[in-house]
Amino acid sequence: MTQKLKAGIVGGTGMVGQRFIELLNQHPWFQVTAIAASAGSAGKSYEQAVQGRWKLSTAIPEEIKSIVVQDASNVEAFAAEVDFIFCAVDMKKDEIKALEEAYAKTGTPVVSNNSAHRWTADVPMVIPEINPGHLEVIEAQRKRLGTSTGFIAVKPNCSIQSYVPMLSALQEFKPTTVVASTYQAISGAGKNFTDWPEMLDNVIPYIGGEEEKSEQEPLRIWGSVENGEIVKASAPLITTQCIRVPVTDGHLATVFVSFENKPSKEEILERWQQYKGRAQELNLPSAPKQFITYFEEENRPQTKLDRDIEGGMGISAGRLREDSLYDYKFVGLSHNTLRGAAGGAVLIAELLKAEGYIQPKS
Ligand SMILES: NC(=O)c1ccc[n+]([C@@H]2O[C@H](COP(=O)([O-])OP(=O)(O)OC[C@H]3O[C@@H](n4cnc5c(N)ncnc54)[C@H](OP(=O)(O)O)[C@@H]3O)[C@@H](O)[C@H]2O)c1
Repeated sequence: MTQKLKAGIVGGTGMVGQRFIELLNQHPWFQVTAIAASAGSAGKSYEQAVQGRWKLSTAIPEEIKSIVVQDASNVEAFAAEVDFIFCAVDMKKDEIKALEEAYAKTGTPVVSNNSAHRWTADVPMVIPEINPGHLEVIEAQRKRLGTSTGFIAVKPNCSIQSYVPMLSALQEFKPTTVVASTYQAISGAGKNFTDWPEMLDNVIPYIGGEEEKSEQEPLRIWGSVENGEIVKASAPLITTQCIRVPVTDGHLATVFVSFENKPSKEEILERWQQYKGRAQELNLPSAPKQFITYFEEENRPQTKLDRDIEGGMGISAGRLREDSLYDYKFVGLSHNTLRGAAGGAVLIAELLKAEGYIQPKS
């Protein structure tokens, strides 16, 4: 068996970092060999560093417990120990930008959960089933950063996975207008009900910065590569409202959409059923076999029942029907910390390895 690639997790003590640790346990291609976080966690064993704040229902993997957490700002030393890193840190945007570029400049590929570089023109923001071609800009980015092996690739915001796959499957019919409301889980804010009791029996009609991301990021996903840069698409027009609701995991979206060429309901269901991409063609380890699952039952998908479909990497849809103002309306659902965060990033890393962008350093 070939040697596994050595993965480092920067921000490994946080909520998304913990998900990385869980998902990479027994991963066929990657092994977590180093973990970094803030100076406050540095020097502690991983088990000590997350004491009282391990948020997952699964136990910390045995071989991870004794790894000594390093200070993420010791970039050269940390990068020397790994083939590539996953990055999920809670820092100021300009600090994250600088940190990720510093890692890339050491020749280390960076697969990021953070939003800091999502609009950097030569940084690909990827959903592997939808826009794997955007990896092409890595060549231009490497030139800019002065490295032949390092680069940054990012995943989009967790909210958009609950409606962008369904709209992507229908691009041939030219969607013109989209109205999406997202009902987002509290884990999206890095919280559970113990540390956010105010969310019990409550709904909060505001998530900072989320509506702009939910309206703009799909256009970048559907954009094209021109002269080493991603140029965002100009259609459809998207407007959103993003609401925090009292569920642990899973972002649900209600969507209205109109098209230039209105498809039949049968055509939509057929496109959703058939939709697959590079992740399925390459049979990547974390890729769902069925990307979009449509539920015929009127009361599905439900957050609690359906968020874990395909190991939390599948997208659910339901309630497709014609609308009196728009052409159609439907409901979508995705798991925000799996497909929408760590799982989505692991899938990007698998794509990058399969396409030769991540390789062993020696
Ligand atoms: N939660 C989600 O569903 C979700 C989804 C998509 C994207 N994201 C993004 O992922 C990132 C992490 O989110 P999270 O929910 O995992 O946050 P979190 O639970 O607050 O964890 C933050 C992590 O960042 C580390 N950190 C903080 N300050 C640092 C510093 N100065 N230098 C190095 N490391 C530092 C923390 O280390 P210590 O433990 O040492 O403090 C911890 O490992 C954020 O950018 C967030 O926007 C989150």
